[in-house]
Amino acid sequence: MPLNTQLTKLLGIRIPVIQGGMQWVGLPALAAAVSEAGGLGILTALSQPSPQALREAIRKTRRLTSKPFGVNITLLPTINPPDYEGYARVAVEEGVRIFETAGNNPGPLIKYFKSQGCIVLHKCTTIRHAKSAERLGVDVLSIDGFECAGHPGEEDIGGLVLLARAAKELKVPYISSGGIADGRGLAASLALGASGANMGTRFMCTVESPIHENIKKKIVSSTERDTVHIFRTLHNTARVFKNKVSVEVVKIENRPGGAKFEDVRDLVSGQRGKLVYENGDPDYGIWSAGICIGLIDDIPTCKELLERMEREAEEIIGKTASLITPRSRL
Ligand SMILES: Cc1cc2nc3c(=O)[nH]c(=O)nc-3n(C[C@H](O)[C@H](O)[C@H](O)COP(=O)(O)O)c2cc1C
Repeated sequence: MPLNTQLTKLLGIRIPVIQGGMQWVGLPALAAAVSEAGGLGILTALSQPSPQALREAIRKTRRLTSKPFGVNITLLPTINPPDYEGYARVAVEEGVRIFETAGNNPGPLIKYFKSQGCIVLHKCTTIRHAKSAERLGVDVLSIDGFECAGHPGEEDIGGLVLLARAAKELKVPYISSGGIADGRGLAASLALGASGANMGTRFMCTVESPIHENIKKKIVSSTERDTVHIFRTLHNTARVFKNKVSVEVVKIENRPGGAKFEDVRDLVSGQRGKLVYENGDPDYGIWSAGICIGLIDDIPTCKELLERMEREAEEIIGKTASLITPRSRL
């Protein structure tokens, strides 16, 4: 029996699981595989060098699946911002109707997507930000807890508390994000009032994920203790895989007098991180990973993964319901 939630109804998907935007990983092959498997695959706009390249990636994804998929646009704290408007316009022109926004000052982008009749999922790490996004008219909030890969914010609040607050305070549907890798996590998310789950790290380690096999194997052999926070002292915290480069960055940040971004710029370069996925050397640069890495011990296809999660979640929900027994009358 399928898990029907507000998310599955709104997006027209079968399983309430989304593959969140992932720089260099959210490419057509993965997004299409997730959508084909019944979840929602998402292309990461900024993994494409230009809006025109995103247009081609959308067309490629559409050749691989006829199911709905989305596009992520991540607003970065950078001096020379990418052409966000161009990426957004091209995606809308190509008929994409589901967007995931993340990062700073999403107002103008959300306004544009809503004016075009699109569904917007916005990723937040605090209930305060979630409420502002709600006021901006987003359709779904993706609540990223402290567990997540990438940017968990600066307040270090785990998913349990964030989602319980979301249940009490948000008006629009919300999904869990961060730390989810199996049916147990999906069932827990639903119990916390979420309409589904967003996953990043788990989808990196699937057959269709376009990264080097060595990195997938590294994820399988790692534990929940193998991530680290960089940029903590720069107030732009990011959870990444613990390797020679990230440990070096933290060391530089913690030296007397602290560090400026320029001090670590070369170590954290995005191009170096991209090469990790191409050459398969996990120590070559910085790459994002969440603590659910400790729950990952295989490399399934997206179909196998989502079917297993669906089965596990249903079993767990059934078992949990059976804990309720009639009260004794004695
Ligand atoms: C390799 C990788 C790259 C990511 N890049 C982005 C990104 O460009 N934009 C974004 O909004 N989130 C990005 N994320 C975060 C994911 O979309 C998602 O929120 C996060 O992975 C959830 O935590 P989990 O890894 O525990 O599932 C990335 C995550 C990973 C693992």
